[in-house]
Amino acid sequence: MAARMKFIHITDLHLVDPFEDLWGINPYRRLDACLTDIETSHADAEFCVISGDLADRGEPDAYRALRKRLQGFPVPTLLMLGNHDDRAAFIKTFPDAPLDDNGFVQHEHRAGGHVFLCLDTLKGEGSSGTLCEARRAWLSQRLAAAGDMPVCIFMHHPPFDIELPYMDRLKLEDPDTFEEALGTKSNIRHIFFGHVHRPVYVNWKGIPCTALPALCHQVPLRRETVISRYSDEPPMYAVVDVFEDRFVVNADCFMHRQDCKMPPNKS
Ligand SMILES: [Fe+2]
Repeated sequence: MAARMKFIHITDLHLVDPFEDLWGINPYRRLDACLTDIETSHADAEFCVISGDLADRGEPDAYRALRKRLQGFPVPTLLMLGNHDDRAAFIKTFPDAPLDDNGFVQHEHRAGGHVFLCLDTLKGEGSSGTLCEARRAWLSQRLAAAGDMPVCIFMHHPPFDIELPYMDRLKLEDPDTFEEALGTKSNIRHIFFGHVHRPVYVNWKGIPCTALPALCHQVPLRRETVISRYSDEPPMYAVVDVFEDRFVVNADCFMHRQDCKMPPNKS
């Protein structure tokens, strides 16, 4: 069965100055390699979502570098904010970014018979996330407007633990209020999240949820297995194929794809 459509999920760029490294990694080169791979293999994707932590410290230069790199990128790209971002600096560099009525970077997109809601969980202090009353009201309104259409939610901070204490104390605050904002909707097909810098699948209250490694540094599952604070594990982006009866999320280690050795010819 042919996919109804496909889209791309990328998360946690942590861009700094294009000539600077972060934790021994050059985030801009990683972004460039990722977008180049998508241009080569998935230029027909309906859209691409980057789910927050676009910059590492909200640097205007990082946003400018991102804007410049996205010029000419063939896949329409939806940008979201994470705890490392600066909302004002982002909006200054992306003045055409869609905002909700309260100035939060929250937006809705419709494609392939689905509604895609991108949330702004940036708190502005600390590393945990929040969805204040105004942002939750927007979410409830958009869910009501979606009616019976299937809905996907993108959010930087997950509203649940992933059994990684280092990250679990930094998740979305007040997850109960987020759940209340979802109401009794049963047409939420998937939640895509970032922030945890790991490939994770969670089934949360019956809703499938997936995260990806960052494009930059990762958070080791077992902290004691590395001597550094973070780990250098393969970055990935995800290709999401949407069918009538299923969502298929394929994570691709685009920088670690190498030929295997050909087996010896036994003939
Ligand atoms: Fe991050």
